[in-house]
Amino acid sequence: MRHAAALALLLALTAGGAAGDDAADDAVARGEYLLHAGGCISCHQASKEKAAPLSGGRALDTPFGRFFAPNITPDVETGIGGWSEREFIAAFRHGRSPGGANYYPAFPYPAYTGMTDDDLIALKAYLDSLEPVSQPNRPHQLTWYVRWRAAVGAWNALYLKAGAFEPDPNLSESVNRGVYLVKHLGHCGECHSPRNRLGAPRADAFLAGNPDGPEGDVVPNITNDEEAGIGEWTEDDIAFFLEIGMLPDGDFTGASMSEVIDHNTSRLSAEDRLAIAAFLKSVD
Ligand code: HEC
Ligand code: HEC
Repeated sequence: MRHAAALALLLALTAGGAAGDDAADDAVARGEYLLHAGGCISCHQASKEKAAPLSGGRALDTPFGRFFAPNITPDVETGIGGWSEREFIAAFRHGRSPGGANYYPAFPYPAYTGMTDDDLIALKAYLDSLEPVSQPNRPHQLTWYVRWRAAVGAWNALYLKAGAFEPDPNLSESVNRGVYLVKHLGHCGECHSPRNRLGAPRADAFLAGNPDGPEGDVVPNITNDEEAGIGEWTEDDIAFFLEIGMLPDGDFTGASMSEVIDHNTSRLSAEDRLAIAAFLKSVD
């Protein structure tokens, strides 16, 4: 009798343990998917072949100076090891560091603010599962008038709409998913919307194209406008483009979009690419 009870207890414990591990594995796998959907690799990995994954160092030139994306491996000294879930969520939701300083919006937290807590926790679980890499961050090289991080608070007051995405009950599930992937995770507007003088993507010209894109790229209009945008593309054309980078006329995309295809949209599920297409068809 005692033995049977002990055995039952042992089975219950090991079964519980296995289920816990499965849930943890699921979060890590989901986090890896979100890392792609969030396009994090494009910035946080130096382009050099031998650069360690996500150890930072990539230079981003902007009108306000040159930013270097930091090390986001779980190294405690030089990366983000030891952060709590709350600190991680605050970085994305409010653009705030664990020490209370403001991040610069070169880190697209104004888009990532819409990520759900669950997704952020899964993303953190994935990052925590990586090998820590000791690689000190390079200091940004900024124009004098933006060197003061506290000033970003004023910018946030104007342009940061902090808060997790909430589905709109008037839209289909697929379009809602598309909104989440385009506006928040995929931060497509960071390149495809024109910016105002303070460097904020213009909400009144969402995805309407940006003649001064990153790295000097001219970024096309991807609204549903037939003349200026991609109104003549079908949803399948868009989904196929996001999978392999081929335009309906047979040309391949170049510049920074080829990295978006490689690191982000080609790695999404077919369903998610169709969700992006469904939402883009509704943007005019
Ligand atoms: C467009 C480039 C870009 C993209 C895309 C990007 N980041 Fe960053 N990230 C930066 C820059 C630049 C900083 C530094 C901001 C600063 O110093 O104020 C940063 C800062 C961070 C920080 C704070 C690090 C620290 O040491 O305080 C974390 C965490 C982070 N990014 C994670 C991510 C994750 C995860 C993703 C994908 C979901 C991502 N980033 C996508 C450019 C980017
Ligand atoms: C880092 C900047 C950047 C980001 C982020 C980005 N794009 Fe692009 N995109 C570009 C550039 C630059 C081009 C033009 C490439 C060329 O000239 O070959 C482009 C081209 C395109 C085109 C082809 C349009 C045409 O008329 O040729 C589509 C569609 C597109 N992007 C969709 C997206 C979607 C959807 C997202 C978000 C998931 C996204 N892009 C995110 C920079 C970006």
